[in-house]
Amino acid sequence: KKDFIIVAIDGGAAAGKSSTSRALSSRFNLMHVDTGSFYRATTLKLLEAGVPAQAGEALVTGLAGLQLDTKTEGNQASIVINGWTPDAAIRSEQVNANVSHYAAIPEVRKFLFDYQRSQAEIAKERGFAGLVMEGRDIGSIIFPEADLRLYLYADPAKRAARRAAEGLTDSIEQRDKMDSSRKSAPLQVPEGATLVDSSELNLEQVVEHVSELVSAAYEN
Ligand code: CDP
Ligand code: CDP
Repeated sequence: KKDFIIVAIDGGAAAGKSSTSRALSSRFNLMHVDTGSFYRATTLKLLEAGVPAQAGEALVTGLAGLQLDTKTEGNQASIVINGWTPDAAIRSEQVNANVSHYAAIPEVRKFLFDYQRSQAEIAKERGFAGLVMEGRDIGSIIFPEADLRLYLYADPAKRAARRAAEGLTDSIEQRDKMDSSRKSAPLQVPEGATLVDSSELNLEQVVEHVSELVSAAYEN
C-alpha cells in the first residue's frame, strides 16, 4: 500500500473540479491545490501592473517581480504572491474575462511549472497522505506520473447553470474554447485518465464514485 499518492484532476470551467477536490482532500487527508487560482492570481497581479497579455519584455519583467510561496490552512493550499494571499478578487468578472489570455502564453505557464511540481514535496513535508491537484494540464503536463488521473466532464449548459447559480457572469464556453485550442498545454483528456461525467450526478454522487478510485490508487 502506498503512503503518498498524487491525484490529478482536469476538466473545463465549472465541471466540479474544486468541489470534488475539496471533498477528496478532507476524506483522504490530501493537500488540495487549485492551479486555476495560480493563473487567476498571476493574471490579477499582471493586470494591476499594467502588463498586457502578450509575450515580451514587460511580461518577463512583470513575472520576475512575483515571488511565490505556499500557505496551508487545513487541507487547502494557497499560493502567496509577494506576501499577498489571493482573495475573492481573483474570481471577479475582470479576471474571468482575462485569465485564459494570460494562461495561453508559454512564459506564464513556464513561470508556474516548477512551482506546481514543488507542491508534491510541500505536501509530503507537511504530513499529508497525498496531493490532489486540479487544473487543465495536470495529468498531461504537470504530473503525468500521477497515481490517478481524472477528467471531469459535464454538459456545457449544466456548467453554465452551475456558475450562474453562484451569481457570476462567466463566459465558460469561450474560456473552454481558448483553453482547448491553445498551443501550449491545451485542455485535453490526459492519457490513461478516467472520464467522469457529472452531467446527471450531484456532488455527493461524484465524490462517492471518485473516492473508490482514490482508495484503489493507494492499493495499486
Ligand atoms: O474555476 P474555473 O474552472 O472556472 O477556472 P479555474 O480552474 O479557476 O481556471 C481559470 C483559468 O486558468 C482557466 O480558464 C485556464 O485558462 C487557466 N488554467 C490553466 O490554463 N491551466 C491550469 N492548470 C489551470 C487553469
Ligand atoms: O472547479 P470547477 O470550476 O471545475 O467547478 P466547481 O467550482 O467545483 O463547481 C462549479 C459549481 O457546480 C459549484 O457551484 C458546485 O457546487 C456545482 N456542482 C454541481 O452542482 N454538481 C457537481 N457534480 C459538481 C459541482
